[in-house]
Amino acid sequence: MVRIGISSAWVATTIGLVTASVVSLDQRAPLTITVPLKKISTITNTSHLVANDYARLQHHHSKHSGNATTRVALGEASATNELNAYIAQTKVGSQTFDLVVDTGSSNTWVGSDTKFIAGSTGNNTGNAVEVDYGSGGFIGDEYTDAVSIGGTGVKQQSIGVAQLAIGFDGVDGILGLGPVELTQGTVQGVSEVPTFMQTLVSEGVIAQNILGISFAPIQGSAPESTNGVLTFGGVDSKLFKGNITYTPRIPPFWGISASSFKFGANSLGPNSTAAYLGFVDTGTTLILLPGPVFTAFLTVSNASVDPSTGFVAFPANAKPTQDISFVMGGTMFTMTPEQYLLPQAQYAFWGISAQQAQASGGYALFGNAETAGAPAGFVLGMSFLEFFYSVYDAENDRVGLAPAA
Ligand SMILES: *[C@@H]1O[C@H](CO)[C@@H](O)[C@H](O)[C@H]1NC(C)=O
Ligand SMILES: *[C@@H]1O[C@H](CO)[C@@H](O)[C@H](O)[C@H]1NC(C)=O
Ligand SMILES: *[C@@H]1O[C@H](CO)[C@@H](O)[C@H](O)[C@H]1NC(C)=O
Ligand SMILES: *[C@@H]1O[C@H](CO)[C@@H](O)[C@H](O)[C@H]1NC(C)=O
Ligand SMILES: *[C@@H]1O[C@H](CO)[C@@H](O)[C@H](O)[C@H]1NC(C)=O
Ligand SMILES: *[C@@H]1O[C@H](CO)[C@@H](O)[C@H](O)[C@H]1NC(C)=O
Repeated sequence: MVRIGISSAWVATTIGLVTASVVSLDQRAPLTITVPLKKISTITNTSHLVANDYARLQHHHSKHSGNATTRVALGEASATNELNAYIAQTKVGSQTFDLVVDTGSSNTWVGSDTKFIAGSTGNNTGNAVEVDYGSGGFIGDEYTDAVSIGGTGVKQQSIGVAQLAIGFDGVDGILGLGPVELTQGTVQGVSEVPTFMQTLVSEGVIAQNILGISFAPIQGSAPESTNGVLTFGGVDSKLFKGNITYTPRIPPFWGISASSFKFGANSLGPNSTAAYLGFVDTGTTLILLPGPVFTAFLTVSNASVDPSTGFVAFPANAKPTQDISFVMGGTMFTMTPEQYLLPQAQYAFWGISAQQAQASGGYALFGNAETAGAPAGFVLGMSFLEFFYSVYDAENDRVGLAPAA
């Protein structure tokens, strides 16, 4: 880890104390803090999981494209508790909660499974809080409390304490790592609430509001494994290869544009010079492709949407051999069939029967953003992020991607 630099003005005025002060500055504001994550999957029916991804995108898209008519009221969504998520064990007050790592939302909240009991550090602010994710949501009260992950954290973080949570059975809530503007309108009486990342900076725990995320595919047939890493305050260069490609963030999410999609040598679009606009979302399972790209992919790959799993399935004995690639920020990001197909060892815990497996040449972890009402949008979910390191840089308002190491 690189030792943090100190400004020359500060050195000039405290020259006699440099050695001791550097140590204390390092203790208060290290460059990065790294914490491990656990991936858990409790899928009984993959078509519900796919439906959750669509419900989430539909909600995100309709809310932020001003299309209020499609807003699904909390409790009416297709909340089915198909859990596929990276979990950060997070201490709030004196309790420890399993929180979903979510870059597509920004409120941190607890109380879905394990109920929150306010201790000596917790304070009810008296404000109501409500967040809807399309595939579930919660209603509750805002508190401020101490929040820490892996032993490092903040003293006073705004959190939601759920009175009612839908779609989060098996976890306790969310660690919201999205941009702060996604907290607008969630807490009564305030325009925005500071995110956990912002509080880490404002309390001097890290120097910069930069988050690096490393996910990795589950190996073998275990439904869970410790295979993710969050780096607060910067990036961990051991976890990616080559250079990070940064692109300006497209608000309000961690948005990114793609100028071209390919399957083998076939272009999947766009045909024009207009780019498609998507976002990087650790709370989505699949890679949701723009409608025309998805349709072109089915045509050139001979795949179809399998009604029983909801996945893109290839004909029996026709496992694809070509790569799919995405050009973003002028860099081509390529996934091999081994990367974009669901590993056979995981069929069982994703509820795919031996009979279904026989009838298919494989399942690609792609979905159609048009199904969620966002035909020109795309979402890079966990299935992408398990092969690419991602960087959420609020200091420079940009998104970074690089092949995983
Ligand atoms: C999965 O869910 C879908 C939609 O609810 C349903 O049609 C299908 O029969 C279910 N599949 C299994 C194997 O239960
Ligand atoms: C708004 O929602 C309606 C109804 O679902 C849909 O037909 C329309 O395409 C949506 N418009 C936009 C801009 O998303
Ligand atoms: C809780 O709120 C009270 C009243 O505003 C304040 O005096 C107290 O310091 C707060 N406690 C914490 C832990 O923030
Ligand atoms: C990374 O960027 C540096 C500086 O621009 C360049 O010299 C180097 O070749 C790049 N490395 C890769 C793997 O692209
Ligand atoms: C590109 O244009 C061709 C011909 O007009 C059309 O068939 C195809 O669907 C388009 N593809 C995309 C991805 O828009
Ligand atoms: C799709 O099917 C056609 C007709 O059977 C075949 O010629 C082509 O090679 C197939 N494409 C792929 C990618 O398998």
